[in-house]
Amino acid sequence: MVVENVKITNGFVNSEIDNNIDIVKEINRIKKEKNAIILAHYYQTSEIQDIADFVGDSLALSQKAAETDAKIILFAGVHFMAETAKILAPNSKVLIPDLNAGCSLADSCPYDEFEKFVNDHPDHLVISYVNTTAAIKTITDICCTSTNALPIVNSLPINQKIIFAPDRNLGSYINRVTGRNMILWNGACHVHEEFSLEKILELKKEYPTAKIISHPECQKPIQLISDFIGSTAALLKFTQTDLANEYIVATESGILHQMKKASPKKTFIAAPPKDSTCGCNDCNFMKLITLKKMYNTLKYEKPEVVLDDDVIKKAKKSIDKMLEISKKLNL
Ligand code: 13P
Ligand code: SF4
Repeated sequence: MVVENVKITNGFVNSEIDNNIDIVKEINRIKKEKNAIILAHYYQTSEIQDIADFVGDSLALSQKAAETDAKIILFAGVHFMAETAKILAPNSKVLIPDLNAGCSLADSCPYDEFEKFVNDHPDHLVISYVNTTAAIKTITDICCTSTNALPIVNSLPINQKIIFAPDRNLGSYINRVTGRNMILWNGACHVHEEFSLEKILELKKEYPTAKIISHPECQKPIQLISDFIGSTAALLKFTQTDLANEYIVATESGILHQMKKASPKKTFIAAPPKDSTCGCNDCNFMKLITLKKMYNTLKYEKPEVVLDDDVIKKAKKSIDKMLEISKKLNL
């Protein structure tokens, strides 16, 4: 049963929770009762990853959303991911525990400016990273994630003119690897741009046999000293199959949970940001999601991610195109 009169304040339901309840047990109970599914990104806290029905990177989460028939999708991740789930599962009620869970990368690509940029390059195909708003996806030809960006670009004719948005680091990485000259939107993720080259090199002295692995959203100098560059899922897979025992991991620290689970005998060190006392690197948006907020969200079915039918229809084309190519390439 939905309690109608509960309010969303500051982006989430701030209702008192009885201290005596077992919150994990309650989330599981309500989830079953309401035919809900919990999708969580790898950058969520360990406790949230452990309670989720499915944990993955942005590609795997969209694939999961596209195939679910759950009545409710509780999305433990950021807003653009929940929007993508809504676009792919329009008949499900998509809930996000905190509306403030945004993304600096998605914010770096405002609709009006990007629309003008696209109109200024009429003969270009528009490839946008999934880390964009639904509105940006409506003026995108092919959506991509860090897992499939490179193969998607490679699947296009070499003389195809391309606009790549919004991440300049991922875009220049693809240009470097493919020898293409895609026009890049000048956006970035504040988490991945914050890694300190000096501190990583100091760590490398301390752990000389450790391999440096990084996400392509990191800046070029970090990529150049990396033994392996890949999406969150690719980094996880690499640590499972590679023979080294120690890794310095330059991406959001949430992924270390799955790395440690999959390879308990290996050592994983979170690459340090330029300015932090914690020694790790967290996405402040991802970490806005908590078990308490998830509990209230499931209970009260708020906040809900709502999109115009027209936006869903237009944005879906670019995501469907991505899923179609990914399927063809077995990604
Ligand atoms: P992936 O999940 O595609 O690795 O993207 C990383 C990211 O920044 C998500 O916010
Ligand atoms: Fe956005 Fe960066 Fe956070 Fe990912 S890690 S959600 S790209 S701000």
